[in-house]
Amino acid sequence: MKVRFSILRQTANSPPWLQDYRLEIDPGATILDGLNRIKWEQDGTLGYRKNCRNTICGSCSIKINGRSALACKETVGQELARLAAIAASAPTAEIPAIAIAPMGNMPVIKDLVVDMQGFWQNLQAVDPYVSTAARSIPEREFLQSPSDRAKLDQTGNCILCGACYSECNAREVNPEFVGPHALAKAYRTLADSRDQASQTRLEKYNQPDSGVWACTRCFNCNAVCPMDVAPLDQISNIKAAILDQQTVPDSRSVRHRQAMVELVKQGGWIDERKFGLRVVGNNFRDLSGLLSLLPLGWRMLSRGKLPLEFEASTGTAQVRSLITAVQALESAKGSPETSTTTPMPQESESEPISKTAPSGPESFGWTAYAELLNGRFAMIGLVALLLLELFTNQDFFTWLGLR
Ligand code: SF4
Ligand code: SF4
Ligand code: FES
Repeated sequence: MKVRFSILRQTANSPPWLQDYRLEIDPGATILDGLNRIKWEQDGTLGYRKNCRNTICGSCSIKINGRSALACKETVGQELARLAAIAASAPTAEIPAIAIAPMGNMPVIKDLVVDMQGFWQNLQAVDPYVSTAARSIPEREFLQSPSDRAKLDQTGNCILCGACYSECNAREVNPEFVGPHALAKAYRTLADSRDQASQTRLEKYNQPDSGVWACTRCFNCNAVCPMDVAPLDQISNIKAAILDQQTVPDSRSVRHRQAMVELVKQGGWIDERKFGLRVVGNNFRDLSGLLSLLPLGWRMLSRGKLPLEFEASTGTAQVRSLITAVQALESAKGSPETSTTTPMPQESESEPISKTAPSGPESFGWTAYAELLNGRFAMIGLVALLLLELFTNQDFFTWLGLR
């Protein structure tokens, strides 16, 4: 069949351009076969990476019709069928076209070859090796039971192709985030029965900008991974391990998670008035966090978007019973490699979400009182600050670094 390969080409210092190549090719041929034919028969200047041709080395990752994939895995026929299924919208071109582009989130060196230095550095940042402390036992192999070894199967399949990293929304906006490949590898070491550095690892992976909480849960990494490593699932496993600790470090990310479950459990959906106060304002303990809410609060108030009352969802009872059932299940199941399990408390309005979650927020006496006032303290503070600005002609919000 005739196919048009529409390839986005670029050199490091030039703007990209699209170049079309037409091929007579078998639908069972891989995209990599097509690129090879183009290079060998039509244009020797085309740059791309390849090695094993067999879904092993991870070298040939590129974007094919808009999503990152291995060129040696996807076939021409599958791609055209996928396109046809996506878009009855596809213009009826005289020759079907396959769009090829370099991976995202990495600078282009030439054509389809990207600079993966950041990718490797981020992998290195999670310390992806079984801890050397465990290796100090002399003259013995490090035996593992089959069930312990089986825990490493899924993450061990990663071939470091970069497809997940290329599609990662969090990486796109947050240069600190180590990326899904690194966190999948991080969980592999965490789950390894030979590793003895779990505590240090959990502290490292709990960092707000670089660690697991920076993931936006967009699911792209799971969707594109050619080896079914499911990086998002591994990120969730690390989060569960962090929350399973006896003492979870108090951080905005952890509070975010806890407040969300607590509030949904209480009212069926999130009470927005309490959410910011609990997460950003740390239950009225974090003054700068509270103040940082004021400009947003004012904008919401002035546009009539600040809910003054909260109406519980009509499905609250069902939602609550679902959450309780999941919490009971998790409590019964435990987490063998990280478990510090204690039984879940009985359901109550103020029940913490984690079986070992810190008791801080709920035991903080006047938090409940403050919330009872539906965040009116914050609104009074906001109005006072604005009036002060008006009368003194000073820019307090900027001065406080809030604007
Ligand atoms: S997790 Fe999957 S997509 Fe990401 S680098 Fe490993 S094999 Fe590639
Ligand atoms: S789910 Fe998280 S890690 Fe995976 S691609 Fe999205 S933001 Fe990145
Ligand atoms: S060439 Fe090795 S994975 Fe494609």
